[in-house]
This record gives sequence, structure tokens and C-alpha cells, in this order.
Amino acid sequence: MQNSYKRVDAHLSSLGYCTRSEAKKFLSKNMVCIDGVRVFDVREKAYHNDITVDGERLDDESLLILMNKPSGVVCSHSDAGVLIYSLLPQRWQNRNPKVSTIGRLDADTTGAILLSDDGELNHKLTSPKSDLPKVYEATLAQSLRGDEAEIFASGELMLHGEKKPLQSAKMEVITPTLVRLDICEGRYHQVKRMFGAVGNRVIALHRVSFGEFSVEDLQPSEFRVIGRL
Ligand code: URA
Repeated sequence: MQNSYKRVDAHLSSLGYCTRSEAKKFLSKNMVCIDGVRVFDVREKAYHNDITVDGERLDDESLLILMNKPSGVVCSHSDAGVLIYSLLPQRWQNRNPKVSTIGRLDADTTGAILLSDDGELNHKLTSPKSDLPKVYEATLAQSLRGDEAEIFASGELMLHGEKKPLQSAKMEVITPTLVRLDICEGRYHQVKRMFGAVGNRVIALHRVSFGEFSVEDLQPSEFRVIGRL
């Protein structure tokens, strides 16, 4: 667990309590203590774990969140539309480094997405070398024709514009228009393009789990903080 030693204003601003320039006012309005002793000087240095704000310990220095993403929000800091971050508490939205999604789901895709302010972790989990399993449920416009599971499992399916075939993926039929798909890669619009390649169309897509994290116990828009990976 991180426990960095730095100025109080640096702690407060990186965790989103206030900006660095607001820190002085923040200390006068809120009971900020180091080891139980109130501080008024923003320059005072302390370990993260020794600081309290109005009797509460500071938020963790590193955040890892699992959310059940609802439809209609975008996994981006800059695209148009409702940003996924607006569903988080304001303080977490103010953190620096920023909380970002680990990979992306399309705006109309629902389900499991991790968010973190740990750039290294984000990089590790989104790198092509990371082979975290992802489970999707896809609702299709047309009934399955029968050969899809075999094609997806072959490890030979080449998506339009790509140079490498997709790794083998496992498809389980739930109904003729609903499937469960286990994949390890995370290529752009992968599931929709896979079904496009076999003459079908995905009309609803839900990611049930990302790695070991499932959103079966979370309502749309709900999230929980999870420990480190
Ligand atoms: N595949 C897609 O096509 N879209 C997603 O959002 C995720 C996987």
C-alpha cells in the first residue's frame, strides 16, 4: 500500500479534495489533522496515512474501481456525450492523476469496466500481451446460422483491415439470437466486427466480466472499489 510523504496541499489536490490554490481556504474550513493535530499551513509535510479530514482518513492514494457501465455513457475524457466519469463522486473526478477507464467499451455496450488512476496498471492490462479473459453476452439481429462457434474457435478469422487473425474464442449458444462469448483479446469493436464477419449484427452487448471481475451483483451505473490486482 502506498503511503507517500509530501506537503498537505499536494495530498489534498492529488486526491481531489481541492486544488492547490484552494488548499489554504480548505484548511480553514475543514478540520485537517496530522496525527490528530489540526494543520493550517499548506506547506506542512506528512505521510498520507497520518492525515485526516473532518475525522475521516484520506481517500486511498490509488483507486481501482469496477463499474457496471450503463448504456449511453462514453469511456473518454474528451468525446462528446455523457462521460462515464460523471457517474463517480466529484472528488474522484478531480483526482490528479486522473481516473481513467482500463480499455474502453462502446457507448451502447453495458457491463464490466475497470477504472483506475494507475497509469502503469492501465498500460499493463490493455497491452496486447495481456490475455485477460473477457466474457460478453451478445444479442443478435438474426438467428445464428450454425457455423459461428467453429469459425470463432478456429483462430483463423481475419477481420476487415487487420493483418493478424483473431485468437480462438469460445462461443456458447443461449438462444438462437443470444450468445455468450469468451475472448482474450480486446481489438477495436471486436465483438461487433466478429458477428459482422459472419453476416450478423450485434444489437445489444453486455460484458459480464473482465478478468476475475464480474458485474453480476452490480446494477447499471453501480460501482465498487476493489483492491489491487
Ligand atoms: N466489442 C465491441 O464490439 N464493443 C465493445 O464495446 C466491446 C467489445
